[in-house]
Amino acid sequence: ARPYLLDCDTGVDDALALFHLLSDDEVNLVGVSTVSGNTSAAQAADNTLRLLAAAGRTDVPVAIGAHHFRMAEYDGGVPHIHGDNGIGGVELPASHVDPLAESGPEFIVRMARHYPGELRLIAIGPLTNLALALELEPRLPELVGDLTIMGGAALVPGNASPVAEANIINDPHAAQIVFDAPWTITMVALDATMEQLIESDDRERLRSAPGAIAPMVAEMLGVYYDFYVSVFGRPCSALHDPLAVAISTGEVVPTLAPLVRVTVDATDGPGRGQTICDMRGVYNGYPPQSGAHVRVVLKVDRPYAPLLMDRLLSFA
Ligand code: BDR
Ligand code: CA
Repeated sequence: ARPYLLDCDTGVDDALALFHLLSDDEVNLVGVSTVSGNTSAAQAADNTLRLLAAAGRTDVPVAIGAHHFRMAEYDGGVPHIHGDNGIGGVELPASHVDPLAESGPEFIVRMARHYPGELRLIAIGPLTNLALALELEPRLPELVGDLTIMGGAALVPGNASPVAEANIINDPHAAQIVFDAPWTITMVALDATMEQLIESDDRERLRSAPGAIAPMVAEMLGVYYDFYVSVFGRPCSALHDPLAVAISTGEVVPTLAPLVRVTVDATDGPGRGQTICDMRGVYNGYPPQSGAHVRVVLKVDRPYAPLLMDRLLSFA
């Protein structure tokens, strides 16, 4: 099994991403680091430990990462989207496991050194921990085997502002540091994730399924589905974070994913958090850009929800 580390702001769709990873026999989840975003980094760690305990996976360590962003303070998350506690208000039993004593960025660096060239990193929250890890270990891009992030928008509108996606607008400075580092990044953008939806009938199937996990997920999706009524006109939800997992594991394959240079707007103006993807070489016949190393996923080869449903229903 290949080693994976998940960096997240747990979060309803982060929880789905975690369950997707846990359901895959070919994944060795070596740990989770948390960051503020949907909720605080500490709450995200508590959520993650509870979710892991519910799945019988108290062996997976969790490290609390950055509370504040690089140039901005964490301002309380998005309870109207992810619920008061980040996981749709669902109260899960506390885990008997504590978070690690080391910080999220320290943990990322230690795991990257432990699995040189092999560790598959998936970042599905603001990129603060990754920027801090790069400061601690500038060789991180050589040490990490693969980096997939959920974040940004290339050719479609943003979700947290007219132009910006939530993970990037929370910490645009960190995002720029990560995009500038010398690694190939698979950026799973809103262009791809907004097309992958889980619907009301899926939620009903989860609710009436046997086992503990599927009905719990159905409950967790309540607030999230309500929020998406304002976006899609019906209760459903976009599968942002779990899609990044399925792409990292190779189960879902990008069909349109140009390699481009990405610049992040880190100003305080209306463009803040925009991922400016230089698509000129792709769409206008310009020569490929030198130094382009971000693979921006715009389309994938199949509907992802059926795969996620199988995985959620596979928990005993
Ligand atoms: C991203 O923002 C968060 O709210 C979600 O968990 C996802 O990572 C989508 O824009
Ligand atoms: Ca997230």
